[in-house]
Amino acid sequence: MTPPSSGTSILDDSRSDERGEILGLLEQAYWMEIETVMSYIANSINPDGVRAQEIVRSLQADIQEELGHAMQFANRIKELYGVVPGSMQFSAEQSYLQPPEPTTDIVSVIKGVIEAESGAIHHYATIIEKTDEADPVTADMVTAILHDEEGHRRLFEGFLREYDSGRPQLEHRDRGHDDALVAG
Ligand SMILES: [Fe+2]
Repeated sequence: MTPPSSGTSILDDSRSDERGEILGLLEQAYWMEIETVMSYIANSINPDGVRAQEIVRSLQADIQEELGHAMQFANRIKELYGVVPGSMQFSAEQSYLQPPEPTTDIVSVIKGVIEAESGAIHHYATIIEKTDEADPVTADMVTAILHDEEGHRRLFEGFLREYDSGRPQLEHRDRGHDDALVAG
């Protein structure tokens, strides 16, 4: 996107082509947030087991935040003279966040969340790059949303580290204890 000529606004008639390009990016972001809400609802309710509870609680809190992001993208689409798309235009992409089998497989949920957040982070970095000069209001809004997504990814990377290292050893020790009881 070329830098705007000085003293013009992204809302000016003369800049409708630039607006169209930004609207395309915002619509994609809107659908990403909506699909994340769907995936987080399912993955905060489906998992079974003690190990899943911390993840479930975290995802439940994130649902409202992601819904808030979707609303922000929708409002910005309207402000830029666009139309918030209808549900028939939705096409799903989050194959990596489908309900795991078995439902105690919380590690695949954690990895799916990290992948979803990474996808959002990359798309939002692209929007910021394209709007930094052309539409600073959109760039500011998306920068704040990007901050939220980076926080989510960091949190879930921490969860993954914990599940990859400490917990399996604990399970192994518990199983040994049970074996000893049976043997005794
Ligand atoms: Fe989000």
